[in-house]
Amino acid sequence: MQITWVTALLNWFQLHQRELPWRQTKDPYAIWVSEIMLQQTRVETVVPYYRRFLERFPTVEHLAKAQIDEVLKLWEGLGYYTRAKNLHRAAQVIQQEYQSVFPRSHSEVLALPGIGDYTAGAIMSIAYGQPFPAIDGNVLRVIARLQLVQKDISLPQTKTEVAAFLKGVFPLEQASDFTQALMELGALVCLPMTPKCTLCPIQVHCQAKQRNMQQELPIKSKK
Ligand code: ADE
Repeated sequence: MQITWVTALLNWFQLHQRELPWRQTKDPYAIWVSEIMLQQTRVETVVPYYRRFLERFPTVEHLAKAQIDEVLKLWEGLGYYTRAKNLHRAAQVIQQEYQSVFPRSHSEVLALPGIGDYTAGAIMSIAYGQPFPAIDGNVLRVIARLQLVQKDISLPQTKTEVAAFLKGVFPLEQASDFTQALMELGALVCLPMTPKCTLCPIQVHCQAKQRNMQQELPIKSKK
């Protein structure tokens, strides 16, 4: 039988993934901190901030008890300080409403301050192994090319369709790796301007590559 693109992607991820500190854990708190930091900041920049943050605040409880000034001080240089304020507020919500145990359901996670669809999907899949997609720009680009999505990826409906597609192919035993593999392929291979298609583990499945349209996709109107 022919191997599916999902299996090919997972095999590639096992061999080629970068060693990153948040890949050593399944702690939802640590995954959450990493995903918030990574939202607007590059991986190389995030790594030392992530290590310092987790060293000073190893658990939700440590973060909830901290003074906001100390949280902001550790965030200095990362920018977008609303992220740090929301992390701190959400830690206090988890302390008060969930006795400092990180919630396990998608709706509870999504309701926390500063957590939207992307972050909730990342936590649910990476930490808990649940089939919730985490769709950022990298993942949209990978799927737009793979599936020849010729709609504008800025439209909410396009993201909804990509989410439905991913939900339908999620490998239930490897939800965590699947989410991270999609991100990693977008970060290392399926690059915006000059994708490295010859290195791509799913090139034979890629509809854009078959039509030589990888440079034209994804289509994005607003910036
Ligand atoms: N960008 C967003 N989330 C990421 C993750 N978990 N690993 C690497 N890059 C990312």
